[in-house]
Amino acid sequence: MALSIRSITAATRPTATTCVFAVFSDESVEKHPCFRALGAAQRRYLAAFSKRAFTNERNEVDYVVFPSGKPAAAFLFGLGKHSEWSRRRFALAMRRLVSMAESQKIASLTVHLPSLTITDVAETELLQHAAENLLLADYRFGRYQRPAKKKHALRLVELVVSANRGAAKALAIGKTIAQFTNQCRDLANTPGSDMTPSLLAQKAKTLADETGCTLRVLGRDAMAKEKMGAILGVARGSVEEPKFIILEHRGGQKTEPPLVFVGKGVTFDSGGINLKSSSGMSDMHMDMSGGAAALCAVAAIAALKLPIRAIALVPAVENMPSGSGYRPGDVLTSRSGTTIEIGDTDAEGRVILADALDYAKDYKPAVIIDLATLTGAAAVALGQHRTALFSNRDAFAEELLQLGKRSGDDCWRMPMGEEYEAEIKGSFADINNIGKTRYGGAIHGAVFLQHFVGSAPWAHLDIAPTMTTADGQYLAKGASGVGVRLLVALAKTRAEKLKVKG
Ligand code: BES
Ligand code: ZN
Ligand code: ZN
Repeated sequence: MALSIRSITAATRPTATTCVFAVFSDESVEKHPCFRALGAAQRRYLAAFSKRAFTNERNEVDYVVFPSGKPAAAFLFGLGKHSEWSRRRFALAMRRLVSMAESQKIASLTVHLPSLTITDVAETELLQHAAENLLLADYRFGRYQRPAKKKHALRLVELVVSANRGAAKALAIGKTIAQFTNQCRDLANTPGSDMTPSLLAQKAKTLADETGCTLRVLGRDAMAKEKMGAILGVARGSVEEPKFIILEHRGGQKTEPPLVFVGKGVTFDSGGINLKSSSGMSDMHMDMSGGAAALCAVAAIAALKLPIRAIALVPAVENMPSGSGYRPGDVLTSRSGTTIEIGDTDAEGRVILADALDYAKDYKPAVIIDLATLTGAAAVALGQHRTALFSNRDAFAEELLQLGKRSGDDCWRMPMGEEYEAEIKGSFADINNIGKTRYGGAIHGAVFLQHFVGSAPWAHLDIAPTMTTADGQYLAKGASGVGVRLLVALAKTRAEKLKVKG
């Protein structure tokens, strides 16, 4: 059974047996709104404990559980300094709560949200993010574990809000976003043998059936008719048939230009003939994380019934070395007609995206966003806590940076410009899939992609840095589901803007 989350007002009696006393290290526990509800002995105990415990180094206390009375136990939970409280700290606190409840085998918790407010964030938004982060923290990839998934201790979280207005809706939005982000993690975590291009297309069918989206899948012949020589070239080394997956949610006006999300769907990246090293190959079953995010975002947007048109395009291939594989030095003719010289078969992502971006332009989209685990260089530049953002529109880049902060999918803008173009010029074809120098590898990737987008409003998210969760995030090891929350946030604001306009 999944974790259930509900909201209650202070007037409602909590059913959870453990009350969370989330307190800031620079404030006393006596100020906590639930403090008064305790008996005298418990108050004394908690006050004394908090004084002792909050002097620890990290300014964060873990917990104290004490028996009897109402609520049955109190869970003293340090939040750090109030002056440093932020959206990020709030999200982390929600996740840490889950991990502590699990380690203490606590089945149900009541959390008082009004004492956790953040400046300029409405309580409904706080509630949405609480639900999201609790559920993201509750996720495990247990499909291959025997005996079947260990039972979770924590079953219920009650979130106390000051007003019921909008609470149910905010909670439902948060749950839906988390559900599809976790589905994205499932897809990306699945090993390469069980997540081939055909199997990814099957998963897209399930998502379509669940959410009422339409699905079209092109196989090898249909792609040949589309002249997608770049995708077909990369796919040549694998016995797995490539698929071009098109998932569409048709909300809002038919004439409204759509949001098009293009996701890299390399179901396993061995590097091809330019084979990766053993360590370089680990995690490469997650090289379809961008594709999974694009699909799950469109499904989430449909599930939320947002009045907007959103389309996911996923070129899905396996990059394998073989006698039939594409070679360094080969020249592929892309759908746009641009010829691509293969400097390195391991720079396959940008090659398949070339055809997908060209296809995206046919929709006359409002914006194109591609998501791709494109370069190790982006991870070298940013570490694991920011996605590299490139865009040919300043205002759009700014919008995504802001939405990134709000949604928790943080991005950092990187440069592009014509001065970089010479670096990817082909010697014998129009363009080369690797840069001439060792410097700025993430930028080479972006500038290559820009070539196929032309003047359409576009952003490229290199999610190689954020593909997996990092230590200290209180999330299960493996895929992070990056991108889903950001794309849904974008669709939500775009839908709201249309409503105002229309
Ligand atoms: N999928 C990889 C990039 C990657 C590496 C993603 C690590 C996530 C974690 C991509 O296809 C690749 O191999 N890129 C090369 C490009 C190079 C050959 C120009 C890289 O980053 O080394
Ligand atoms: Zn590669
Ligand atoms: Zn790759």
